[in-house]
Amino acid sequence: MSLVFYSRADDPAPWRDAFAAALPDLVFETDADVRDPAAVRYALVWKPPHGWLAGFPNLRAIFSLGAGVDALLDDPALPAAVPLTRMVDAGMGRQMAEYAAWGVMHFHRGMQRYANQQRACDWRPHPGTPARQFRVGLLGLGVLGEQAARLIAATGYPVAAWTRTPRQVPGIENFAGAAALPAFLARTQVLINFLPLTPDTRGMLDATLFAQLPRGAAVINLARGPHLVDADLLAALDADHLSGALLDVFHAEPLAPDHPFWQHPKIVVTPHIAAITMADEAASQVIDNVRRLERGEAPLHTVDRDRGY
Ligand code: NAP
Ligand code: GLV
Repeated sequence: MSLVFYSRADDPAPWRDAFAAALPDLVFETDADVRDPAAVRYALVWKPPHGWLAGFPNLRAIFSLGAGVDALLDDPALPAAVPLTRMVDAGMGRQMAEYAAWGVMHFHRGMQRYANQQRACDWRPHPGTPARQFRVGLLGLGVLGEQAARLIAATGYPVAAWTRTPRQVPGIENFAGAAALPAFLARTQVLINFLPLTPDTRGMLDATLFAQLPRGAAVINLARGPHLVDADLLAALDADHLSGALLDVFHAEPLAPDHPFWQHPKIVVTPHIAAITMADEAASQVIDNVRRLERGEAPLHTVDRDRGY
């Protein structure tokens, strides 16, 4: 039996080593060296080209290297009867929490303004507010959002989260459903997007949503680029309705060199690194699923294709 690996963002070497140690009978191949597509039982992938997975007629499971599976579900030829699994935490919860907490502190302490002042040799302190008065709001409170919410709340910020179905997490205020969104936005000074990209959430970070945030609010998008309407963000920043944005994900990645986000004085850009799938922390999840499938059991962490996440 063999497993085929496809990613242009991940080094296959640590994955090959992890599989060789745990599953010595499994042949590990990359897309470049796969010999017999009919012998491939498993695929471990990040953003393969549309139609590529359909070339393996005997797949028993498709394992996503990422937590988000929107790019896979976008493939019209994705084999319909093959279970699709995603990474659930797998070391990313801690990383997302670090990134989100850093972003909250960046905006709470006005660090973007000081970074711009530094470039102008401008020594000018500004008044601040205590953390307990700086209200943080998360869109989505799933596996990754919950860890971020807990870390940010533990540092003293009031934290609320908006979800599809009600969620009770100690210390986190919950707003559930579309009717609760306006009240959630009205109390939020820094909004962090932790939603999966689905037909319901695509384009949600738009002018209508920004207008419901208080003047001076900031936005952090570490979920997916197409959640955001880029032009609406630029307009809200340039009108001084929003004070800043921290962006890790984009419609097209890498972000084009001439995209206005790169040079905007109120925007911080990072290259989709909020959480990275590391073989050290994540391979065991895939190995466990291969063992389950070989025993005839269902894999863990399967994606609900109808729901889209
Ligand atoms: P998850 O466990 O599936 O959680 C998703 C959350 O979003 C749940 O709270 C869910 O609410 C909520 N939600 C989904 N659709 C909604 C809707 N229409 N309205 C309101 N709430 C909705 O996902 P996760 O593992 O935390 O991952 C979240 C996303 O992070 C991924 O999909 C991926 O795009 C992104 N990500 C980015 C990076 C990076 O490096 N930038 C790394 C990893 C992941 P219910 O529980 O009520 O369904
Ligand atoms: C990264 O963006 C992921 O979905 O894991």
